[in-house]
Amino acid sequence: MTGASGVLGSAVVPRLEEDGHDVRRTSRHPRAGWVKADLATGQGLVEAVDGVEAVVHLASATKQYRKAGEVDVAGTRRLVTAAERAGLAHVVLVSIVGIDRIPFGYYRSKLAAEKVLQASQVPWSILRATQFPQLVDERFLPLASRLGVLVTDPGITVQLVDPRDVAGRIGELLAGGPSYRVENFGGPEVQTLDEIVRSWLRATGRHRPVISLRLPGKMLRAMREGALTTTDQPTGIRTWEAYLAERYAPVQDSQA
Ligand SMILES: NC(=O)c1ccc[n+]([C@@H]2O[C@H](COP(=O)([O-])OP(=O)(O)OC[C@H]3O[C@@H](n4cnc5c(N)ncnc54)[C@H](OP(=O)(O)O)[C@@H]3O)[C@@H](O)[C@H]2O)c1
Repeated sequence: MTGASGVLGSAVVPRLEEDGHDVRRTSRHPRAGWVKADLATGQGLVEAVDGVEAVVHLASATKQYRKAGEVDVAGTRRLVTAAERAGLAHVVLVSIVGIDRIPFGYYRSKLAAEKVLQASQVPWSILRATQFPQLVDERFLPLASRLGVLVTDPGITVQLVDPRDVAGRIGELLAGGPSYRVENFGGPEVQTLDEIVRSWLRATGRHRPVISLRLPGKMLRAMREGALTTTDQPTGIRTWEAYLAERYAPVQDSQA
């Protein structure tokens, strides 16, 4: 598995182990019992796929979007080439809902990575997930709230999905074999960004004025048109509110 150290990988590894899989984890960093592999250079990829039946490909330049060409596109090509040569039975790639509708450089690379896999000789399945609560809670909202106020566009809707639910779907895809389909997988509810922001402020005990504005640009317009959401079934079951309760229960309790 690539990306085993990430937010999603940390949920997928235990799920697959529960299903009885022997999971080989890769990382760019040396870790006992893991294979050291780097998609940007190709280092370690042959060893990573040697003797495995399937690859769950989660690694991505999520922390440095400008490297997505090297990591997501060229890196997926390197991985897929290694998988072809090793005669793998299945590669499952995790991608993002709406990448074909939202004009954003990182999303273009995710779409190109999908096409690399689809054009390969390796049997494949692609699962496009919506955003994880951790992305919003740990990256976007702390960054956005640095300004002292939180600006949200009330027209933007999101459908946050818990990585444990995505992990469950990945387990099912592995069990079902290559689907040769691009499947969308979202969370249990569609919410406005406004609702997300206000419940996050409540749960974290932060106090920031919230300014609701219709924000400009094609990317945000696509998000207002629902590009980050899906009507596809099945969906995850764990809600954003449940995530907040699990993560911030001590903050809420101490203020009670
Ligand atoms: N976050 C979201 O809301 C979201 C939503 C939908 C889909 N997705 C997709 O789900 C997947 C997992 O996302 P995540 O949020 O779990 O990511 P994450 O926590 O940011 O982790 C990124 C992973 O990518 C690996 N990685 C980065 N550069 C690499 C390279 N050059 N070579 C090998 N591995 C590399 C990292 O491994 P090391 O640092 O250990 O090398 C790490 O495990 C990604 O494909 C992402 O696009 C994410």
